[in-house]
Amino acid sequence: MILNFAHRGSLTEAPENTLPSFQKAIEHRASAIELDVQLTKDGHMVVVHDQKLARFNKQYPGFIKDYTLAEIKQIDIGSSFSSEFRGVTLSTFEEVLAICPPDLIINIEIKNIPVIYEGIERKLVDCLKEHNRLDNVIISSFDHLALKKVQQLVPNMPLGLLLYYRILKPWEYAKHCGLQLASVHPHVAYTDKEFIDEFHHLGLKVLPYTVNDKAKYQKLIELGVDGVFSNNPQIFAGV
Ligand code: G3P
Ligand code: MG
Repeated sequence: MILNFAHRGSLTEAPENTLPSFQKAIEHRASAIELDVQLTKDGHMVVVHDQKLARFNKQYPGFIKDYTLAEIKQIDIGSSFSSEFRGVTLSTFEEVLAICPPDLIINIEIKNIPVIYEGIERKLVDCLKEHNRLDNVIISSFDHLALKKVQQLVPNMPLGLLLYYRILKPWEYAKHCGLQLASVHPHVAYTDKEFIDEFHHLGLKVLPYTVNDKAKYQKLIELGVDGVFSNNPQIFAGV
């Protein structure tokens, strides 16, 4: 089965990583979504990509970590997308989880660089356990130490190795990093046949980000990827 992830929800139709964005992806019958988690000043998990709020509301120049959840819930981030979404705020991870059908695959990316959120791994795992939602989840991060902490807490949790740069022989790194990985998530720019084949030899799925063009998507499927992350989930139709 090809894993097609709606990246930050359906972000061309609604503000990224918000409830409307995930609702749109679910309406389009996406089989999988990707979201990013961070912590507020008072330790709540919120779903947001940037570590600062400025891109979503210029009146709030601070970092996510500098605001309490109560403060975050007062900040309109929908208007920066369009007036239709005025009043939309960031959501907690629990709020997003509540609208996700049990069979929807969720890739949770721990955003832990450059701000490091002490204890985010335990909070995430505890939340998933509390909501009986350990199935159909992949946890990924560019912070591979965060993945190690998740592995210590839930040894069989599917882990995704996020790679930004093309490091030399990343499959060798993957073998020796001490993680029980399920997948590698490379930047699409360097996802070639050698990369795919080497990771397949290790038994890992290859899930590049971000693929927004249908022709590119089809080419990658022919090369053998196991799925992609897309800002434009419409490319998945009819393939
Ligand atoms: O997980 C794929 C992708 O989300 C990684 O990059 O910066 O969009 O979170 P970014
Ligand atoms: Mg992400």
